[in-house]
Amino acid sequence: MKTDILPVNAASIKRAAFLLRAGEVVAFPTETVYGLGADALRPGAVLKIFAAKGRPADNPLIVHIAETDTLDMLTAHVDNRARQLMDRFWPGPLTLVLPKAGVVPDTVTAGLSTVAIRMPSHPAALALIKESGMPIAAPSANRSGRTSPTAAAHVLGDMQGRIPLILDGGPCGVGVESTVLDMTGERPVLLRPGGVTVEMISDVLPGLVVDRAVLHPLEEGATARSPGMKHKHYAPDAQVLVVRGEASRVIEKTRALYDAAQAQGKRVAILCPQNRTEAYALRNMHVLGTHTQDMAANLFEALWALDGEGVELIIAEATDTRDMGLALMNRLLRAADFSVIDV
Ligand code: TXA
Ligand code: MG
Repeated sequence: MKTDILPVNAASIKRAAFLLRAGEVVAFPTETVYGLGADALRPGAVLKIFAAKGRPADNPLIVHIAETDTLDMLTAHVDNRARQLMDRFWPGPLTLVLPKAGVVPDTVTAGLSTVAIRMPSHPAALALIKESGMPIAAPSANRSGRTSPTAAAHVLGDMQGRIPLILDGGPCGVGVESTVLDMTGERPVLLRPGGVTVEMISDVLPGLVVDRAVLHPLEEGATARSPGMKHKHYAPDAQVLVVRGEASRVIEKTRALYDAAQAQGKRVAILCPQNRTEAYALRNMHVLGTHTQDMAANLFEALWALDGEGVELIIAEATDTRDMGLALMNRLLRAADFSVIDV
């Protein structure tokens, strides 16, 4: 299959909507990462997403909507707390897990009784949902287990020949996937941190619980509250090591690891914040940004770029986990398969 890339405009949105109505999958930009969309109410179309990604069938998809009215069709019940969150954060990078209605196919929810829903804020995503007239099921548009795409070129790298169309809307602003919040229990549970932070949610609702799996590997035999947590994630070709601790010791350890790997003839890179340019001068460093927000926004782009350069080892400094630091560390720890050196 030939994969077209078209810039976002009225004509390309029409073309994408036509393909979706024909039961095809299409990649499109959102404010978080690129999504791989299909008609959420058509199991045959949804199965094509799983096939293109090589995604395990037990990992459910997020349904994207453009109007809150669509919720009534997709959900069995939306309580007051969920309404408050939607009022504050939709459209935007917040996904709510809610009790599902019968119309949502099991292929979307992996047989769960709940469905994950979000209203993206990216104008192209909203236009595509409206033009196609359907709720769109869409995971990130990468091969399963690989780094999520924040640019159309990343999608092409993973999906060429597997899907008919990629809508190119330029780089994604948030750069990490949406926050996933389970609203079906007594207290809201954060399953995946993202652009809407713990601090922002706690400002609206009390009692938020952060699932242990956000920052820790799943324990042997434990069941994941969010099926996505048990699968391998964000794995670049390079090995990733995270160095965590007090700043001067982190710098010392990072330099030592770098120099040792380089002496072995390995291609190495350091991922670090802006204020380390002097500390790592003359070493191959990739500055992610100044604050955790821009660092998170640039992380996936950095992983894609370093893979492109053939880097074999990435040494990354841990950041604090406040605000966007939680999403950043959640992705980084998974990219490193939880290989952390505490100093
Ligand atoms: O920002 C995003 O959310 C992007 C863009 C395209 O919207 N989408 C995305 O989808 O990241 P995906 O499939 O890569 O991640 C969906 C996550 C997975 O961890 C999945 O397990 C979880 O949401 N999830 C989906 N439905 C769920 C449910 N009913 N209960 C618990 N977790 C669910
Ligand atoms: Mg994904």
